[in-house]
Amino acid sequence: MANLQNDLFIRACKRQPVERTPIWIMRQAGRYLPEYRAVRKKADFLTMCKTPELAAEVTIQPVDIIGVDAAIIFSDILVIPEAMGMHLDMIDGKGPVFQHPIKLEDDAAQLKKIEAATDLNFVLDAISLTKKELNGRVPLIGFSGAPWTLLTYMVEGQGSKSFSHVKKLIYNNPELAHKLLAMLTDAVADYLSAQIAAGADAIQIFDTWAGILSPRDYLVFALKYINQVILKLKRKGEPIIYFPKGVHNRMRITADCGADVISVDWTIDLAKARDKIGHKVAIQGNLDPTVLYAEPGFIRREARKVLESYGKGNGHIFNLGHGILPDVDPAHAKALVDFVKEESAVFHQNDVNTKVIN
Ligand code: CP3
Repeated sequence: MANLQNDLFIRACKRQPVERTPIWIMRQAGRYLPEYRAVRKKADFLTMCKTPELAAEVTIQPVDIIGVDAAIIFSDILVIPEAMGMHLDMIDGKGPVFQHPIKLEDDAAQLKKIEAATDLNFVLDAISLTKKELNGRVPLIGFSGAPWTLLTYMVEGQGSKSFSHVKKLIYNNPELAHKLLAMLTDAVADYLSAQIAAGADAIQIFDTWAGILSPRDYLVFALKYINQVILKLKRKGEPIIYFPKGVHNRMRITADCGADVISVDWTIDLAKARDKIGHKVAIQGNLDPTVLYAEPGFIRREARKVLESYGKGNGHIFNLGHGILPDVDPAHAKALVDFVKEESAVFHQNDVNTKVIN
């Protein structure tokens, strides 16, 4: 971490003083960029994930084109179940599909216990190569799906509206659900530790489906395992970001999960999130991703509201409340990044003074 030219993101994760608010965008390496689509024409999605040169190339694109303050390694959360032996299809226009989702104990028994160093070595190689090519320009974020969100995909087989299959599992066979979650917890902790060893400067854990759980089930099936993942992680100060989408009724307890940063979606005011948990953790977010469909003037006004809602002081990382959508104009993403870079300094004047005085 010592050799980063731009370490604003890392400092903000640690709630240290910064000159301005750092910004990156979830799913920033993706189809909204023509440069990404050009690479994607040559290779299918999983081949891109498994070819370190291609993964590194598209990881760095948004740093060059949009000017974000951090890169996130190009991969997918579903490489873990794939490595466990579940055949994954990425279907254009539909998204990821497991043809044989887990239904019974027998299916669960077939899952292979994975070792990241061998089974997911392509991600680790992509991280090492990207670090080399970034040459310290910005930090590199590694990531994984959370055990709960991975379990949801493995049991549903694909995205879902009612999540009937995974709900049936947790209500009718909680022992099997916990067994699978424990197995995923070990895999995720090992995988993230290996990403840190390969050079990741920070880690984000995506819990996209945390919000489908009742407040109590969220503690039992999601947060408990996040806690365990973080305790098991081998790290030397690399910040951990937890993104439990759709969970704002459980902010206080979420802030105790061991993460350094909680990423929030756009359905909660940052002022409220900060009021509840800002003394414990940094906060990432939370512009509504669909705001990027609007004209740049509108985007700037909405981005200002996000900055104002967080208010003055350290501990804010600007991001969208969820991933950037594939049909967004890249010029609009750039307008957002430029605005945050130019206009956020006034929210940090006291921080920098404090730094100088100390
Ligand atoms: O943030 C980044 O730029 C890094 C790359 C990244 C991808 N997926 C690339 C991707 C990250 C961090 C993810 C995480 C991911 N993958 C999540 C958690 C974040 C979230 O959005 O909630 C989830 C749920 C997945 C599973 C997944 N992978 C879905 C639902 C889809 C299809 C969605 C879609 O937009 O079509 C994918 C495919 C995928 N993952 C693409 C990319 C760039 C599009 C694939 C393509 O190029 O055809």
